Amino acid sequence: MSNPGLPVTIRTLKKMKAAGEKISCITAYDASFAAQVDAAQIDVTLVGDSLGMVVQGHGTPVPVTIDHIVYHCKAVARGLQRSLLMADMPFMSYSDPEQALRNAARLMQEGGAQMVKLEGGQLQVNVVENMTARGIPVCAHLGLTPQSVHKLGGFFVQGKQQDAADRMLEDALALEQAGADIVLLECVPDALAKRIWEAVSIPVIGIGAGPNVDGQILVLYDVLNVTSGKKPKFSKNYLTEGRDVLGALQAYNREVKEVLYPGVEHYG
Ligand code: KIV
Repeated sequence: MSNPGLPVTIRTLKKMKAAGEKISCITAYDASFAAQVDAAQIDVTLVGDSLGMVVQGHGTPVPVTIDHIVYHCKAVARGLQRSLLMADMPFMSYSDPEQALRNAARLMQEGGAQMVKLEGGQLQVNVVENMTARGIPVCAHLGLTPQSVHKLGGFFVQGKQQDAADRMLEDALALEQAGADIVLLECVPDALAKRIWEAVSIPVIGIGAGPNVDGQILVLYDVLNVTSGKKPKFSKNYLTEGRDVLGALQAYNREVKEVLYPGVEHYG
């Protein structure tokens, strides 16, 4: 089980899964908010390429570069003591195994990340094998993969059709086999998330994927209700539950642990 006094590691996450303890995750982009995330006892902090939208003001994460992620990672690392720091590999920073290795090394050596996240299915098997064989923990992001938004034609639920659902399950199994330590499912039907969760033995984290997974992740700005424009279905404003930022983050953490979040209104 997780110990509030000890840093969260990959081993902690695997033990939490085995014990049935839900894993709480959130994004952060700077040291001050990272310190609040840490104080709220949230298990994993992601420097997501969502920063392209919520920090830089773009409509997609495509403009985000490896230098941007390294910069924000360094800041977030200074704010954390306990939470595991995961860093996104941005668009086109892992097009081949050698490039992926170089960029993942930057995120860890310069940025202080303890794990990297990349998007895509079986196409990424060689990239994931190359990184995990060299001691780089990898989170494999499936479902709605925002870096492919132009190819997908928008931000939509993925895996609704049987063949797409079967392919996603095969992707998850292939990436686990390649050494991935976590699967992250974004905007997939809850029944498919459950199928994938039953099939793999590594932790499965969801966002808009229903409650039948090992943990949840949200974008910090959605939790604090500072995202402009149309809110994603899975978003929840926790500032109404907590009196301040720390209170909101503690409320989110508690609801993930007690499986009160996501509610039925947040997925499907
Ligand atoms: O970039 C990001 O914030 C993400 C989460 C939405 C999972 O990938």
